[in-house]
Amino acid sequence: MGGTEGERAEAWLTPADAEGALPLSVEAGWNQTLDDWRFMLSDGEGIGLRDGTGRWIATAIALPLAPDLAWLCMVLVAKDQRRRGIGTRLLGKCIDHVRARGAAAGLDATELGRPVYIPLGFRDLYTISRWRLPEAALRPDGEIGTVRAARLSDMEAIAAFDEARSSMRRRVVLHHLFRSAPQQALMVESGGRLLGYALGRPGRTAVQVGPVVADDEEVALALVARARPGTAMLIDVPDRHRRLARWLENQGAVRERGFTRMVLGPVPPGLDDPSRLFALAGPELG
Ligand SMILES: CC(C)(COP(=O)(O)OP(=O)(O)OC[C@H]1O[C@@H](n2cnc3c(N)ncnc32)[C@H](O)[C@@H]1OP(=O)(O)O)[C@@H](O)C(=O)NCCC(=O)NCCS
Repeated sequence: MGGTEGERAEAWLTPADAEGALPLSVEAGWNQTLDDWRFMLSDGEGIGLRDGTGRWIATAIALPLAPDLAWLCMVLVAKDQRRRGIGTRLLGKCIDHVRARGAAAGLDATELGRPVYIPLGFRDLYTISRWRLPEAALRPDGEIGTVRAARLSDMEAIAAFDEARSSMRRRVVLHHLFRSAPQQALMVESGGRLLGYALGRPGRTAVQVGPVVADDEEVALALVARARPGTAMLIDVPDRHRRLARWLENQGAVRERGFTRMVLGPVPPGLDDPSRLFALAGPELG
């Protein structure tokens, strides 16, 4: 580390640090809002490093997504501080914390993050593409059939549906999304049975659509077609869902970058199977 080592201080982060941490995700070009940071720092355990002036220069958060799974996210090091072992050190602390709970650590690695995670023992599960749909490319959808707006009173059924298909117990995350953008909450039912849902949230540069969880691709396509946030849209789709990717491309979506879902420790059953997970909540939220 550099000559200011003595003045640097690691500390656990609180929701009050959200404002100080936001410039790190902005510098990286990420989409999170202040509200996202506040949520992650209240539901998760975050660690950060300050420089001698009090500026946060690195963060990492472990978000509980199930008793056997914590999600590592917001692994960020200021550009001028990279390649000095800071990211690895903060991650190590988060991993110790997760291991002490007896849980596995999961994450969605960026192309910059993956080389840091491999030496720590993380294994690849599957790849994901981020699609960006510019506002101008949005066009009215066709016949959508049974898609309807989801209400707060639907959220318990949605959380139970999600848990059986995502290997995550992320009721708290799903409620955060519903509160952030109730107008993005959609569901498909048939004969009183839930077949799929979609949530979303506002972002710094675009509305993020996801998660989209459904029992088949037709339902997922109907949900995404109906999502139309009326502004630029981001959606993170596991690469095995080729038909959804083709549909997005036909709508004018551009593949912005890729992620790799990775895990350290015993893989929670089903986490390696995205067959019913058509879009992530986001790489930071599982
Ligand atoms: C990813 C990130 C957090 C890494 O932080 P860092 O403090 O620079 O990482 P470290 O110094 O601990 O790197 C540890 C090792 O990972 C590997 N590594 C890190 N960055 C790398 C890169 N850009 N290319 C290749 N290898 C890399 C190297 O083996 C490195 O060891 P070395 O410097 O001794 O060769 C930082 O680049 C960053 O903030 N990127 C933007 C945000 C992001 O993508 N975060 C990851 C989210 S999944």
